[in-house]
Amino acid sequence: MTTASDKDRVLIFDTTLRDGEQSPGATMTHNEKLEIAGLLDDMGVDIIEAGFPIASEGDFHAVSEIATNSKNSVICGLARANFADIDRCWEAVKHAAKPRIHTFIGTSPLHRAIPNLTMDEMAQKIHETVSHARNLCDDIQWSPMDATRTEWDYLCRVVEIAIKAGATTINVPDTVGYTAPEESASLIRRLIETVPGADEVIFATHCHNDLGMATANALAAVAGGARQIECTINGLGERAGNTALEEVVMALKVRHDIMPWTTGVDSSKIMHISRRVATVSGFPVQFNKAIVGKNAFAHESGIHQDGMLKNKETFEIMRPEDVGLTGSSLPLGKHSGRAALRDKLKQLGHEVGDNQLRDIFIRFKELADRKKEVYDDDIVALVGATSDAGEDKLQIVSLKVLCGTGGPAEATLEMEIDGKEMIATEHGDGPVDASFKAVRALYPNKAHLQLYQVSAVTEGTDAQATVTVRLEEDGMIVTGQSADTDTVVASARAYVNALNRLAVRRQKTGPGADTREISYKDMH
Ligand code: KIV
Ligand code: ZN
Repeated sequence: MTTASDKDRVLIFDTTLRDGEQSPGATMTHNEKLEIAGLLDDMGVDIIEAGFPIASEGDFHAVSEIATNSKNSVICGLARANFADIDRCWEAVKHAAKPRIHTFIGTSPLHRAIPNLTMDEMAQKIHETVSHARNLCDDIQWSPMDATRTEWDYLCRVVEIAIKAGATTINVPDTVGYTAPEESASLIRRLIETVPGADEVIFATHCHNDLGMATANALAAVAGGARQIECTINGLGERAGNTALEEVVMALKVRHDIMPWTTGVDSSKIMHISRRVATVSGFPVQFNKAIVGKNAFAHESGIHQDGMLKNKETFEIMRPEDVGLTGSSLPLGKHSGRAALRDKLKQLGHEVGDNQLRDIFIRFKELADRKKEVYDDDIVALVGATSDAGEDKLQIVSLKVLCGTGGPAEATLEMEIDGKEMIATEHGDGPVDASFKAVRALYPNKAHLQLYQVSAVTEGTDAQATVTVRLEEDGMIVTGQSADTDTVVASARAYVNALNRLAVRRQKTGPGADTREISYKDMH
């Protein structure tokens, strides 16, 4: 069980792998989830919400493996207010040195209407389910979903029931991002003052960012007495996302003078995990995002540069090193060998297997032939564009495109599908459209394109483009990524990467499969 031993210590509860992954299209593979959980554990996150075990076989296996591999963090799983969910959750988290069950039910009038329970019936259900969970596990978190729109008297009543039934953490979710800082602080403060037994549990704050106030609301809740912040890396999450871990951790660090609370997170690991989450979720970080955006430490205007040269503190309230942004080290070039590349990957925090190193090296050499200098961001993009998943079903052998003014573009694509080489020529409205049509001519599929996004990795016209493609097929959503100095090649590779992921999803029935039976929409 986790307790904040000193009164100013704030526990960090990361839900990137549960509330973050719940965001449509952010689905991660089994290995990606294990990797992110390992990084969260290493950076000092107190509690990792690893998934929703009853949602699918894939979720169950991911949570149990994360639990088995855990080192210092508490491993938590989510369960609705019923015995089957709670038992399944316990089966998955019990392998952890420090397991936690997080059970919840929607308590606001709108949420109570869905299971059609009276206030009394719901109160009874809370008593029974929390007691049941506590009989399995000593560390129980309970959440009244949509707490910020729940009637005050009823909220106090159900929180008291949950505490009496054995909950050790009471989480107060602002499920729809509706609250504001003062209200957030006062809600927690009044709950602690009013509910009998409140002093024996930890109060947690769980904010969504629909009005852009998630970080402010979470910090205000801490001022009101909460000692656990629920958050995600890059603020990943449904709709406008959740409170961003990097924002609350750095706000508490930089403004310790007015917010005298501490976390156990090693902030120098923020940048690396932010990039990995952006890559594996397929949700790029907006350029001007606080702390982890590409421009967060860039000072381009003349006045700013002048000030920065005289004294860095003129415009910088924290140092780039504090979040793990090292001054850009020497770029690699076409004469750099495999050892130098492995070394660079290590410096950048990427431990890759032999297969992936081989793939990255091939792509690095191709890139170095075209680009004089290969920067750290280029290498990070190559890591994202390759994977350790082994042999892919579809592989691009070559792509030639004819395009320009005054006519449809033509793409000739050679692909290996299950080891068999095939070729097709297709026309389209521009080179990307023609290339995607050529992929579909060789590999007919009914996947629907949900997102096509291009961003430049570094500056200059010879920069690599990172392309993200999100596909949907029969409710399954996958994201593919690739990077290349040729935007059309990167696009075709990202599309093929997404199709490979879809093929794996369709086939797998064992660990890692996403045979999701319960959708996150079905939260009651
Ligand atoms: O936002 C929310 O209410 C949740 C609960 C499941 C805690 O994510
Ligand atoms: Zn949430």
